[in-house]
Amino acid sequence: MASASQTSSATAASTSASSSDLDLDSIYAFAVQLTKDAGQRLLDGAKARMAGGGVIDTLEKDSSVDLVTQADEDVEAFVKKEITARYPTHGFLGEESYSKGASRDYLVGGGPTWIVDPLDGTVNYTHLFAMYCVSIGFVVDGKPVIGVIYAPMLNQLFSACKGKGAFLNESIPLPLQQNPVVPPLPANAPSGCIFSCEWGKDRRDFAGGNLSRKVESFVTMATERQGKNGLGGMVHGVRSLGSAAMDLAYTAAGSFDIWWEGGCWEWDVAAGFAILEEAGGLVTTANPPESKVGDYSDVAVEDAHLGGRLYLAIRPAGASADGAETARQAQERVAREVWKRVASLDYTRPGV
Ligand code: IPD
Repeated sequence: MASASQTSSATAASTSASSSDLDLDSIYAFAVQLTKDAGQRLLDGAKARMAGGGVIDTLEKDSSVDLVTQADEDVEAFVKKEITARYPTHGFLGEESYSKGASRDYLVGGGPTWIVDPLDGTVNYTHLFAMYCVSIGFVVDGKPVIGVIYAPMLNQLFSACKGKGAFLNESIPLPLQQNPVVPPLPANAPSGCIFSCEWGKDRRDFAGGNLSRKVESFVTMATERQGKNGLGGMVHGVRSLGSAAMDLAYTAAGSFDIWWEGGCWEWDVAAGFAILEEAGGLVTTANPPESKVGDYSDVAVEDAHLGGRLYLAIRPAGASADGAETARQAQERVAREVWKRVASLDYTRPGV
């Protein structure tokens, strides 16, 4: 990890440790309570506005769709203060403090590090659309091991700690549908799947730009099977919630089958990765492998890079009824089917 003197936008963990050296139980309990407290602050702000408490204080960052509100700032300051007081040796990376710095490098190293989005779905929050949340991830050796996502207006809290299960509201195991078994992925996926994606903040209008490539990909996934030269995905539905963290939470829940996205950052996904992986899901990269065109059958499906800004997540799955395909094989099959139908996105950054 970069040292604090290299950047003012992230604080480095002073020591590295493996997750077995850490008291993950108490860190997890602390993270859950902290996320609830932070979410309550967001909800108090929303309720005040609903009661006629004034106009939301909003500033534009990189563009008119990249917003920061006073609530983002206040909640990040609160979360950082609580974490620093309790775990002074841990690193901290928060969306708002990072965004103020000049660096866009990937800064997460091996030490225990908190990765925080104080308000994911800021645009939704400004519109009082309930799909916003606090997202707090805890990463060791660069891997998310604890994740908590709390959507206070929905009263939904998604959480997981490595090896201890993933839950909705601390008691309902994820994925939600597992009685009598977790459903297998459809044999003709992506048909039968809900495909979740985001329009994102890159709205530049040029051929081959991220916006046009995303739209082309969404349309291919939605099109009837015989359309698009046989690549039509005929998915059950295309959903865009406006919060990457909520997308990942619902993929971990099994409500979404596929999440495909480029452009978001580690604070949008760290908690969601921990929850999805603990629930049995798979996260890999959004872009089709460059070495091949169309046939990815012998391409290894690698884990996503946390800071890679290109993500493809597949929900937890059961093995096929006849036992011929394991859950992992099915997830990799679906990842390859998605790659056949989507365009490559360009979200490069230093340090990845
Ligand atoms: C954004 C949301 C959105 C995703 C953007 C993120 P924010 O986070 O997660 O769904 O498409 O890339 O930046 O700005 O609301 O915290």
